[in-house]
Amino acid sequence: MYAQLVETGVKRIKDLSEMTEQERAFQEKIDSEIKIEAKNWMPDAYRQTLIRQISQHAHSEIVGMLPEGNWVTRAPSLKRKLQLMAKIQDEAGHGLYLYSAMETLGADRDEEIAKLHSGKAKYSSIFNYPTLNWADMGAVGWLVDGAAIVNQVVLQRTSYGPYSRAMVRICKEESFHQRQGYEILLTMMRHGNQAQKTWSRTPSTACGGRH
Ligand SMILES: [Fe+2]
Ligand SMILES: [Fe+2]
Repeated sequence: MYAQLVETGVKRIKDLSEMTEQERAFQEKIDSEIKIEAKNWMPDAYRQTLIRQISQHAHSEIVGMLPEGNWVTRAPSLKRKLQLMAKIQDEAGHGLYLYSAMETLGADRDEEIAKLHSGKAKYSSIFNYPTLNWADMGAVGWLVDGAAIVNQVVLQRTSYGPYSRAMVRICKEESFHQRQGYEILLTMMRHGNQAQKTWSRTPSTACGGRH
């Protein structure tokens, strides 16, 4: 999901005896699970890799709002509309926490967003699939946000403090997203008409947008 390579010039991991004093102090902090903070010294390759990863993560949160934004005016009830708007708003917040974490590394937000617009920076490709019916909103919440939780829970323990703390809050909100998606599909399967029951078994997202 976040597999775009960043060329840092580092070809292999040094062992402790080859490191400078600064590098060794950094490595010892990592090994004892002490968080690295914005003002601490860090190797340039670590900084560049984090900027790439956090910006790509932030872009995915923002682009992830788009398929769901299309359904705000077509949500089947006021309750569903409120839930969907709350979820979309959360995703905007996730993007903003992450852009802020990225800026603590010295990256420029406008420059990183320009890379997204030019196609140089990537985002999670799942959001390119069309969401053609309401069951897709259920499938996105349950399965896409569910997959995001799997990826993101481990990042709560990542070594960079600002990224780690952003992830703690994000993961709490993702749990609500997954639950609302599950409940959308469950409601369609239990109470929908035959067409809705069929849709909820084969949402467009689940069959690669060819439905
Ligand atoms: Fe999110
Ligand atoms: Fe989410």
